[in-house]
Amino acid sequence: MPLHRALPALVRDPLAALVRFAEEADGQVVRLNLGTFRPYLVSHPDHLQQVLRDRVANYPRDEQGLLWRPVRRVVGEAILVAEGSTWESTRGALQPLFTAKRAETLVDRMAEAIGMAVDDWAEPARQGRTVDGADELKRIVLTTTMRVLFADRISLVDAYRVSAALDTVTTAMLPRLLAPFVPYSVPMPGDRAFHGAVRTIDEVVLPIVRQALAHPTDDDDIVATLCRPRPDGRVPDEYQIRGDVVAMFSTATETTIALLSWLWPVLEKHPEVATRLHAEVERVVGDGPVRREHLPQLTYGRMVLDELLRLYPAGWLIPRTAAADDELGGVRIPAGATVLVSPYVTQRMATFWDDPTRFDPERFAPDRPRRRYRYAYFPFGGGPHQCLGQYLFLLEAQLIVSTVLSRYRFRLGAPADLTPRLGASLSPRQRSMLSLSAIQRPVAQ
Ligand code: HEM
Repeated sequence: MPLHRALPALVRDPLAALVRFAEEADGQVVRLNLGTFRPYLVSHPDHLQQVLRDRVANYPRDEQGLLWRPVRRVVGEAILVAEGSTWESTRGALQPLFTAKRAETLVDRMAEAIGMAVDDWAEPARQGRTVDGADELKRIVLTTTMRVLFADRISLVDAYRVSAALDTVTTAMLPRLLAPFVPYSVPMPGDRAFHGAVRTIDEVVLPIVRQALAHPTDDDDIVATLCRPRPDGRVPDEYQIRGDVVAMFSTATETTIALLSWLWPVLEKHPEVATRLHAEVERVVGDGPVRREHLPQLTYGRMVLDELLRLYPAGWLIPRTAAADDELGGVRIPAGATVLVSPYVTQRMATFWDDPTRFDPERFAPDRPRRRYRYAYFPFGGGPHQCLGQYLFLLEAQLIVSTVLSRYRFRLGAPADLTPRLGASLSPRQRSMLSLSAIQRPVAQ
């Protein structure tokens, strides 16, 4: 893709441009000429499987990479960015906390925390006040995650501080991401805000890590688990643990909030989906609290989530670097090249999906035949780095959606706009201001 076509299209609308480039090439590998940066866009499910799974050793996360450098300054060699033995040791330590079976055991605790957070809507609903849909999701998700994954070691007030600091970090490192060749000795806009935010994160997280290292326990929350010796007897140092705590905090909360933020505009735009979803929640949950046994019966709710993850995958870009020369579908990939893998792109390609831009949960009906390609749908990545939190996320998201809809109806103040805002995670550009009304049910005689 020559520079004169690639650059203007990417500047105008990067997501749409990437989908178009991939479609025009019918899923073949596309080399994007962006001047000094010439990444390879990989979109065919067969090639994705090679990169993420079959030849994973040849496609590490960009170890020396410019793209990850600012991220590494916040989280060090954390699970989200590391490779090799450091990654293996952390993944091995955390894995038992995130199995499908363990996630199931957390459902009751999650349901209780979510129920309490949603209770706070009673006032705005009564007074006819609007609430900000993303802010409310943040409150619900932070409350739940701190309770369930961090065993309340991080207070809600501190969780808000860390979350705001992470937002600052993401914005403040943008100039460095856009100009990765500028050395850190040269000051750039955003540096001061960046350092301030990192200080805030350290102020909250380091004392918690030190406390947990000084008083080891058998608890199965994230901090206690990261502070225990690994199979080789080694305990990572406090900066390594701090990086993993921050990485887990960030990924567990940001992606969940980003994905669920699409629920409001999507349901407003698709009343027929909203009606079916409401009917299912009413039939299965009624007016009681959502319980563990309800979840397997909320099949349409799950289909809606699967379709949200197809069109709006929070983790929209998965960059990799080729370690050695390789070939994908007849295209030579030289050592050192950046390879761009994007669930957003492949999941919106007409080559692999019928009418791909239409929001249609029926694609995920349990009786539909299996898709031809495993990697035509991969919102949680794939291979050894596949998302650790996927089971937990799906349960938590089902609980949040069904708790909210069993108690409230909402309307958006403005016509729904489904344009994404590009950030570390993919969220809607439009703010969703929700007018809430509590569901009135006849009082039983
Ligand atoms: C909408 C929800 C989520 C989406 C779309 C999502 C997506 C992803 C994707 C695409 C990857 C692969 C990254 C790569 O290959 O480089 C990933 C990795 C990861 N995710 Fe998620 N995620 C979500 C929620 C969560 C939650 C709730 C948690 C934790 C509680 C979590 C923890 C992780 C971790 C630790 C990794 C790194 C795994 C590794 O490299 O070994 N994610 N996620």
